[in-house]
Amino acid sequence: MKQEDIEKLVAAIRDLQCKTAKDIEDARVRFLGKKGEITALFDEFRTLDKDGKREFGRVLNDLKQAAIAKIEELKSNTLDIAAASVAQSEDLTMPGDRMELGSRHPVSIVRQEIVDIFRKFGYDVAEGPELEDDYHVFEALNFPPNHPARDMQDTFFVSAGHPNPLLLRTHTSSVQVRTMEKMTPPIRVICPGRVFRNEAISARAHCIFHQVEGLYIDEGVTFADLKQAILLFAREMFGADSQIRMRPSYFPFTEPSAEVDVSCNICKGKGCNICKGTGWLEILGCGMVDPNVLEASGIDSKKYSGFAFGMGIERIAMLKWQVNDLRHYFENDLRFLREFSTAVEV
Ligand code: PHE
Repeated sequence: MKQEDIEKLVAAIRDLQCKTAKDIEDARVRFLGKKGEITALFDEFRTLDKDGKREFGRVLNDLKQAAIAKIEELKSNTLDIAAASVAQSEDLTMPGDRMELGSRHPVSIVRQEIVDIFRKFGYDVAEGPELEDDYHVFEALNFPPNHPARDMQDTFFVSAGHPNPLLLRTHTSSVQVRTMEKMTPPIRVICPGRVFRNEAISARAHCIFHQVEGLYIDEGVTFADLKQAILLFAREMFGADSQIRMRPSYFPFTEPSAEVDVSCNICKGKGCNICKGTGWLEILGCGMVDPNVLEASGIDSKKYSGFAFGMGIERIAMLKWQVNDLRHYFENDLRFLREFSTAVEV
């Protein structure tokens, strides 16, 4: 080890100049890296005798510390240079970028409104998978094996041919089944969500839409309770003077079943082009849960009874805003969506 080698290194480090972060890293590797020049001196130092160690120990340490300090200094200077050049290119007098505030989608607005109404009545919100199996969408809901709703034309099958094929749920009644499987009565849930049906897209039909379905199971629940729940909902949603009427209908999972009309809130029942002169608008399907459905999910149908209902969110939105082409709700045309920006609740 020679004193002059060390002095050369001291000078090299003192005069070191770097422009970029890469130059600094190269310099660090050159001097302090595993095979670096200073590291090599330390390796050699280990082989020296006692006198040699005394002679070189201190200078070597000073050299290493100087190299570390220099690298740090270069780093902070280079960052300063970068920051200074950014500052120069920025014109602080320029106006800021405007942040555009979005607004809620009309389907989300109505969904929230429906959920809020039923929350007030004591219902919890339950959610479930959109990709479902045949059992939860059909079989547990009392659909006979050859029921037309299972037909390929109505349902998007993901894996057909399987004994319990996967499919995109055609209604959120599947969530009601999953809730009944998990809970014991009293059960009071609403199930909002996206559903899928294999339909040609038109102003009146779409292959994707949204539903809110509801389920209430307890001891002694009757059709009168159902009627009252729907009437209260209609009055919250469409105005305190709304009337409802029920027409007999059929669903495999409810018996008896009904379709519900609400008095037209545009003409107050007198007849207009929205209600096609009838004074009534159809809003939902409902009924008393079929005992077979309760039993399939392990609920004692001798002890408990319940009602269920289901409505399309787009349908309610159409009645609320008279936007009568379903396709608008899915096209994300900003001109359409901006129409609802004042409807945002803050
Ligand atoms: N699941 C039915 C549908 O999608 C709606 C419904 C729910 C009807 C509950 C009766 C009871 O059309």
